[in-house]
Amino acid sequence: MATWIPLGKATDFSPGAQFGLTVGDKALLLINLDGQFVVISNVCPHAGMPLEDGEVRHGRITCPYHGYTFCLDTGRNADFPNDEPPVRKYPTRVENGELQVQVEA
Ligand code: FES
Repeated sequence: MATWIPLGKATDFSPGAQFGLTVGDKALLLINLDGQFVVISNVCPHAGMPLEDGEVRHGRITCPYHGYTFCLDTGRNADFPNDEPPVRKYPTRVENGELQVQVEA
């Protein structure tokens, strides 16, 4: 069952910020992409390394380990969309100023 988990005040996550988070047993990465909140798995689907130090540019994040790039809109591997798995994305919402992420309980 999917549950909305509070992450904190939305205003605490400024544009351009990246935060590694642990929610239950999940390692997540929160990105404020010019005011749009994006939460993805903090585990790169290529070889399982953390994405949190990846460079974010033009709506994509580049893994700092082997350079795979993932679209933050779709999660797809931007370089090999048909051959490599996407990074997992999680829904977000802001309720009464509180940023929330939806994960499976
Ligand atoms: S672990 Fe991310 S590209 Fe290899």
